[in-house]
Amino acid sequence: MSDFSLPPLSPSFDLQAALHTPRRWLVTGSAGFIGSHLLEHLLLAGHGVVSLDNFATGHRSNLDEVRSKVGEAAWARHHFIEGDIVDPQTCQQACRGVDFVLHQAALGSVPRSLEDPLRTHAVNATGFLNMLVAARDAGCARFVFAASSSTYGDHPALPKVESVIGNPLSPYAVTKYLDELYASVFTRSYGMQTIGLRYFNVFGARQDPNGAYAAVIPNWARKISREEVCLINGDGETTRDFCFIANVVQANLRAALVPAQGAVHEIFNVAFGEQTTLNQLHGLLGENLQALMPNLKLLPPTYRDFRKGDVRHSLADIGKARSLLGYAPTHSVRQGLHEAMRWYVAPGVAYAA
Ligand SMILES: NC(=O)c1ccc[n+]([C@@H]2O[C@H](COP(=O)([O-])OP(=O)(O)OC[C@H]3O[C@@H](n4cnc5c(N)ncnc54)[C@H](O)[C@@H]3O)[C@@H](O)[C@H]2O)c1
Repeated sequence: MSDFSLPPLSPSFDLQAALHTPRRWLVTGSAGFIGSHLLEHLLLAGHGVVSLDNFATGHRSNLDEVRSKVGEAAWARHHFIEGDIVDPQTCQQACRGVDFVLHQAALGSVPRSLEDPLRTHAVNATGFLNMLVAARDAGCARFVFAASSSTYGDHPALPKVESVIGNPLSPYAVTKYLDELYASVFTRSYGMQTIGLRYFNVFGARQDPNGAYAAVIPNWARKISREEVCLINGDGETTRDFCFIANVVQANLRAALVPAQGAVHEIFNVAFGEQTTLNQLHGLLGENLQALMPNLKLLPPTYRDFRKGDVRHSLADIGKARSLLGYAPTHSVRQGLHEAMRWYVAPGVAYAA
């Protein structure tokens, strides 16, 4: 069984009923954090899934974990392609016979993009365009893609509403905005059904805690559980709208299956809709980990300079996703952290060694 169940039915759109009809899906970035959860849920729901990854930042162990969770019968409905979205032919091969594309493959991380803008552009912009062309040529019914809250850039308004964006603060943010523009042009020019989901700081099991570009929650979870000191960029009063993975899975399924009218050719915030400061997050992680490891010694964080390219505050208005997709997040930050931390301290977490 999966760790979380889908939410109760929305009055306007019955997601569970829509999931009854077996379909063929393509999940790109399936060996990564978000993609592996999408793969898991689709297989558990009885669907056929093609998935694509080149293991740039993803792990075979994520696929192994999905396999053991869904069982061999469901796993037999999965076809994995090891390949790079920068290669147009790989994208064409992956899209063949597919109804819905959930495009997650990208190089995440603002600092990575500042260090290597060319590679970030190749994957996130050119690779994205390859996927759009392939989905168009294959006649896929709908193309749902991972956009990003980084598109809000330097605009100070809070909460963030989809129509009001500022200047991008990093090459990563440029690529994610470019993806939205390309999707919009493909809808206008070729009549493709596209939906972009602007994720806000997603977290959960299988998010990589390793490396220089690790996201804050897995990075700190790992450090705290090893009684190491966490580094906070700035004064710790920077805020984020942290969103548990179950909410993101729900948003993707809704975006793919919701009736087209009003929802396609749109961009939606995907978040919980609540601000948490980094100081609060540090405290919450400590609480949750200590509950699982009673002898754990909690150390205070160390503060250092603000990091280039980071936005100061982030909070999403999720009204548009609620009304047009029937999105109803099931997990608050607290509830999500409670579930996620079990994974970070579980024995046998292959790449957390
Ligand atoms: N995690 C977040 O908080 C967050 C926030 C906003 C947007 N996003 C977006 O969500 C998507 C998924 O992010 P994630 O957190 O799961 O990251 P992740 O790094 O865990 O997963 C990305 C996957 O894409 C694969 N990939 C990278 N380049 C590829 C290529 N050229 N060809 C094929 N596969 C490739 C990686 O190997 C990895 O498995 C990304 O598009 C990311 O930009 C994530």
